[in-house]
Amino acid sequence: MTPQQRPRRPRQRRRRTALVAALLGAAVGAVALTGAPVRPPTAPAAAPTPVPVPAIVPAAEARLRPAGAPPTVYAHRGASSAAPENTLVSDEVARRGGAEWIENDVQPSKDGVPYVLHDDTVDRTTDGKGRIRDLTAARLDALDAGSWFAPAYAGTRLPTLAAQLEDLRTRGGNLLLEIKGPHSRDEVARIVQEVRDHGMTDRVLVQSFEVDALRHARELAPELPLGLLRGDLDADPVATARDLGLAAYNPSDDALSARPGVIGDLHAAGVAVNVWTVDRPARWKALTAAGVDGIITNRPAELAGWNAAWSASGAAG
Ligand code: G3P
Ligand code: CA
Repeated sequence: MTPQQRPRRPRQRRRRTALVAALLGAAVGAVALTGAPVRPPTAPAAAPTPVPVPAIVPAAEARLRPAGAPPTVYAHRGASSAAPENTLVSDEVARRGGAEWIENDVQPSKDGVPYVLHDDTVDRTTDGKGRIRDLTAARLDALDAGSWFAPAYAGTRLPTLAAQLEDLRTRGGNLLLEIKGPHSRDEVARIVQEVRDHGMTDRVLVQSFEVDALRHARELAPELPLGLLRGDLDADPVATARDLGLAAYNPSDDALSARPGVIGDLHAAGVAVNVWTVDRPARWKALTAAGVDGIITNRPAELAGWNAAWSASGAAG
């Protein structure tokens, strides 16, 4: 079990759950916690605190960080430190925390419906058991994807990609869509179709560790920008980026910190660098100074706050 897969300790979780419940409680209420589609609140007579609504950032414009701007905040599986990962609730928490982009993981059900789930089984993050590819959409729809995180999230559903796209389209935000694990051409075609059907092609950046999946995506949807995930750097990342037609090269923090010079090489080739998964301010500072374009984090609200402080401090120069 990797650190990313490990459930959080109960005390940490209780504190964060209380915080998130407070955040969500006033405007969203119980409907968000059930995982049902979250409707835009009707206009209150007097809204004392404006809710931050993330900008819609066309993916083609989100690649390279403009001079003086902070790195783009990518909420890893939503606000996964504060709410059950890869659910519409964690997306909402990330959105309200100021993240412009949500990162997810997409895999098909037995009957070919793309769902948002990280592991290849539902065991860790739902009340069910089994490989997602062995479970039908009807079975997946019946699972509870929130109780494992905290009782307050009981009834949260595993979202389909379609539901997540619709939620982002109507409520704001953009999607860093990870094709998780090997996918056939037909499976990638279904994902592309969902993105097109929801009119989200200019608000999605597709990424994957799977080179074949990226090649399928490029062939099927040349309008979608692509990012390659790497745990270790290629000998020549620029050559790899050119070969795959990448908009972004997305390495682990460990890999990037061993060879930060690749950031400049990739920028010279017009390729963005988005680093994962980074939750500590000391690393946010170092990576921002090193020139990364985006940071993928489990703590999006904290990174958004850090970015604001960084901008206000004049550190951008
Ligand atoms: O977006 C980068 C990161 O999500 C890759 O690792 O295992 O969390 O999908 P993982
Ligand atoms: Ca991921």
